[in-house]
Amino acid sequence: MAIKHFLQFSDFTLDEFEYVMGRARIIKQKFKNYEPHPTLADRTLVMVFEKNSTRTRLSFEAGMHQMGGAAIYLNTRDSQLGRGEPVEDAAQVMSRMCDVIMIRTFGQEIIERFARHSRVPVINGLTNEHHPCQVLADVFTYIEHRGSITGKTVAWVGDANNMLYSWLQAAQVFGFHVNVSTPAGYPIDQSLVAPDNQRYTFFANPSDACQDADLVTTDVWTSMGFEEENAARLKAFDGWIVDAAKMKRARPDVLFMHCLPAHRGEEVAAEVIDGPQSVVWDEAENRLHVQKALLEFLVLGRLA
Ligand code: CP
Ligand code: NVA
Repeated sequence: MAIKHFLQFSDFTLDEFEYVMGRARIIKQKFKNYEPHPTLADRTLVMVFEKNSTRTRLSFEAGMHQMGGAAIYLNTRDSQLGRGEPVEDAAQVMSRMCDVIMIRTFGQEIIERFARHSRVPVINGLTNEHHPCQVLADVFTYIEHRGSITGKTVAWVGDANNMLYSWLQAAQVFGFHVNVSTPAGYPIDQSLVAPDNQRYTFFANPSDACQDADLVTTDVWTSMGFEEENAARLKAFDGWIVDAAKMKRARPDVLFMHCLPAHRGEEVAAEVIDGPQSVVWDEAENRLHVQKALLEFLVLGRLA
């Protein structure tokens, strides 16, 4: 039987997401009640990081411990990956010693090559092109606060980056719409959007993208791996800050999300991220709960 991976958001069906989110609700409740949930006892997660992380590492590592398993952290600096060992060889070896693997790396093709040679499920912990675990947490957080996301409008104000492409895939799966506004010179890469995706509209003006939105979300202007473009991006993204004026264009019950880390005064104003419409801390916490459910589903399948 083919191994199930989570390399991009579109790898799961709506039914699979509904199952995983249902488990995440149970797992979260048990965590809040200090009830043990050792469904992954004696199982091991290997985490490979080729870029920095706080939330992703912590949520996967804490999650495995809380489910009775172990998590092992590897990075490029002190593993053989940093000395040129082929990804295919690393996948063969690592997947003989553990039950599931999470990778944060650069190009999506790296994780796809790794997955093709892995005996165990592989999870995308962020690539240049996708960040599906974060958007899973974001959709879960929206539903927790406001109910179904189907038919709702999400405004994306900022860079055409990994978060945007995962949001566009989520829009197709869950049936919501994304109003996208990116500055001139930073267009949506059509090769990363399904040709039949009609769930988004482009706005040249970022304020117009926020009109009547149920959720406004953004991310850093310079993603990891693009640091040398920072000065040019600071100029190009002038005007793309999510501030109170843009939030006013949205619906009165609008939520604000940001995957974090954030730069107050650049992509988001302090009054918004630290204000009453912001759910960024719930969003960060939910990484833990949804990823525990994701790990359980990939390793054990559906539990009765
Ligand atoms: N949002 C997110 O993935 O954060 P980290 O880079 O800290 O893992
Ligand atoms: N788009 C950002 C997300 C960080 C969690 C990056 O790739 O750096």
